[in-house]
Amino acid sequence: PITREYTLTLAKTELAPDGFSRQVWTSNGQYPGPMIRANKGDQIVIHIQNNLGDFTTIHWHGIFQRGTTFYDGVAGQTQCLIATGTTFTYNFTGGEQYGTYWWHSHFRSQYVDGLRGALIIHDPKDPYLNDYDEEFVMTLSDWHHEESESLVKKRMAPGYDGFNPIPDSGLISGRGRCDCSKAPQGSKCVPDNPLAVYVIEKGKRYRFRVINTSAEAPFTFSIDQHPLRIIEVEGENVKPITMNKINIAVGQRYSVIVNADKEVNNFWIRATIVKQCIHVTPETINVNSSLNYKVTGILRYNGAPETYPTTQEWDEKILNCRDVDHNLLKLNPPRSPPVTPTDNFTLKITFDHINDVVHALVNGSPFNPEIYDPTANKLMYGGDETPSMLDKDQNAFVYDTQNGSVEISLINDNIATHPFHLHGHNFYIMAHGPGKVPDPSIFNLVDPAVRDTITVAGKSWAVIRYNIDNPGVWAFHCHIEWHVEMGMVGQLIERFSELKGDPIPPQVRSICTLDDDDDDDDD
Ligand code: C2O
Ligand code: CU
Repeated sequence: PITREYTLTLAKTELAPDGFSRQVWTSNGQYPGPMIRANKGDQIVIHIQNNLGDFTTIHWHGIFQRGTTFYDGVAGQTQCLIATGTTFTYNFTGGEQYGTYWWHSHFRSQYVDGLRGALIIHDPKDPYLNDYDEEFVMTLSDWHHEESESLVKKRMAPGYDGFNPIPDSGLISGRGRCDCSKAPQGSKCVPDNPLAVYVIEKGKRYRFRVINTSAEAPFTFSIDQHPLRIIEVEGENVKPITMNKINIAVGQRYSVIVNADKEVNNFWIRATIVKQCIHVTPETINVNSSLNYKVTGILRYNGAPETYPTTQEWDEKILNCRDVDHNLLKLNPPRSPPVTPTDNFTLKITFDHINDVVHALVNGSPFNPEIYDPTANKLMYGGDETPSMLDKDQNAFVYDTQNGSVEISLINDNIATHPFHLHGHNFYIMAHGPGKVPDPSIFNLVDPAVRDTITVAGKSWAVIRYNIDNPGVWAFHCHIEWHVEMGMVGQLIERFSELKGDPIPPQVRSICTLDDDDDDDDD
């Protein structure tokens, strides 16, 4: 196979993505970081040169890491931390995978400060190759002027019972506009920051790969007068469906085809932050916050004036906090879900105060990552623990079945919406509905949607299934970064006995200090 090799040098750089200057956590000086591209089956080698002045790890969101769980990049679960001033090399293949992915730091809330970018796997035999002429990759994100570490501290201060941090702006492919009149005295803020512009040729067809890389914000995405023909959802081809607007939650991706068949002109690309889905505490929803939810970019026909569209009106009828209707997303070609799961888990999501600090609980406990002794380290990289020895606040779900399948019932027992993401797999969405009790009579056993990130509405349940075919330690968590920091994380420990004693690349172990003496320090 061909090897695609990249070097990402991570460092803090002063940038102004929305006009406001701040220290951005950049890769090769850029935000968003460079795009990683490969063809199906290629080996992907990425050298991380960490010059952040902080530890880090990098995760490849959506890549299954078959046989390489130790390159999944999850601090506290699959690897030890990459120290500043050092290099660490990730080396994996997408195997049979193709489609639209992204990468981001998976240590604390670092990705919110800028450590994120797109990862695309092209399929030379893509069934839709003849349906478009060119493609663009577009990342969406909310954006904060304050560093995420300090936002997390405020969110988790004793007694705090307010909202998640309110974004200062939103960005399309790293560009947006904030309200400089709100910028603090002495800061640097330039109004009317240039927006992202996509130049197209009349008569051609374009594939847009749209990725939501937010800390929290879900978007309703649309392009004025240009319908969106969905062909891919998170690495799975689907039977094309055409919509005018699509909801896209944190972690989710869509490929859509857009026909350049309108007059030569400028059109708004709109990514509306669905504000009633955020700003939620256990007790309150605030839809009247000061958030500027109108995030824009430009679709410009070649030959149109280099100006922005003049239309001012905004569709205030914002959609709900739901995913695109799962019943419309049909795999192409079809595939049926596992029928009789061998392993069943229920994860109940709640919020509660622990010592006056609000935490997110999975079955009663917030995940507390042991970053210096990650799970895989204990179980696989020379450690001799067994899963039953894991601490209870490690939120571990263990299964060692051959040829089996897992069913997870996710019970969201609070009013907030949570986009849950699974590592190591994508999953069949059997059904979802209101209340606390899943209803098996409405499971789709024939042709359910498949994706790796699902929105679970407030006071609702969702049931997903997947085949047990990928030994490893796989994170399963809400992708709202504020909730991750509060503990809304589980880990699935899959067929771990097969991995034990496997040859682990020496560099993976070498960044861990396996010190037998402090094995028991948390007892
Ligand atoms: Cu985008 Cu745990 O990942
Ligand atoms: Cu959440």
